[in-house]
Amino acid sequence: MAASLNKVGVVGLGTMGAGIAEVLARSGLSVVGVEVGDEALRRGRGHLERSTGRAVKRGRLSVDEQQAILGRIELSTSFGALGDCDLVVEAVPEQLPLKRRVFEQLDEVCRADAVLATNTSSLSVTEIAVSTNRPEQVVGVHFFNPAPVMRLVEIIHTVLTRPEALAVVQELVERLGKVGVTVGDRAGFIANRLLFGYLNQAAAMYDSGHASREDIDAAMKATGLPMGPLTLMDLIGLDVSLEVCEAIYRETRDRRHAPAPILRQMVTAGLLGRKTGRGFYAYD
Ligand code: CAA
Repeated sequence: MAASLNKVGVVGLGTMGAGIAEVLARSGLSVVGVEVGDEALRRGRGHLERSTGRAVKRGRLSVDEQQAILGRIELSTSFGALGDCDLVVEAVPEQLPLKRRVFEQLDEVCRADAVLATNTSSLSVTEIAVSTNRPEQVVGVHFFNPAPVMRLVEIIHTVLTRPEALAVVQELVERLGKVGVTVGDRAGFIANRLLFGYLNQAAAMYDSGHASREDIDAAMKATGLPMGPLTLMDLIGLDVSLEVCEAIYRETRDRRHAPAPILRQMVTAGLLGRKTGRGFYAYD
């Protein structure tokens, strides 16, 4: 069924949305990227140009290929541009009321047979799905940061999802050359449910003065991981990290996921990691 996918929409062109739009366009699909206003759209275009520009610098893409990829991505500030998409992936900030509003709008403008997907990492796909009149067409499609590099994509079904809608997304993920895993609508899905106990403990360890941030990171990096846990949280965003821990804690009451106090304090202070220039580390 995914072979018939031609046009895919992406709503929200922040770090994740822009990365997803790039991955889709790289696979030859026509992409429609939608943002709320001109300034956000300009930032989204900047993400796309920087990320593909980096690949050109590394000799992974020619300038012509970069232009072809960017040329397949139409940018718009209007939801109406999504009207003829076969699938739309929502990647707006992790706030349930906002996501529900976006899905209500998608339900209005998208074709009845279009599949609506959310890239949520911490919210319930079911709660998002029931804001539409087609919850059976709603799935989760969870990419990892940075989306152009990370191979894993979690595909989430709810108790309402039609198998055919799930198959559209499973086949798409295969077409993208990613590793797709399918999971029910449980907080943290598979990867975050396992990863965030560890990340949260690393934050608590740093908070208690157990070791310096550099040594905590160096220890885990030397085990063969690509990044230490505090550097990784800075990449993910401390706001997203806090939300993921809270969601898993709410569902499981597992104390390993009770957010380390330092996480909450840093989020309140606006120290969100790389995206704000400061988290556990400072960035230029
Ligand atoms: N966008 C596009 N490409 C990127 C990129 C980005 N933001 N960051 C790095 N890359 C590419 C580079 O261009 C490079 O590509 P080539 O090999 O083709 O030249 C490759 O990735 C390696 O990059 P670098 O050499 O600059 O740096 P590195 O070797 O240190 O790798 C990393 C950087 C890929 C981010 C690596 O450190 C890594 O894999 N870190 C772990 C990331 C991770 O675990 N992410 C999951 C977080 S959890 C999550 O996202 C889920 C959630 O819901 C919160």
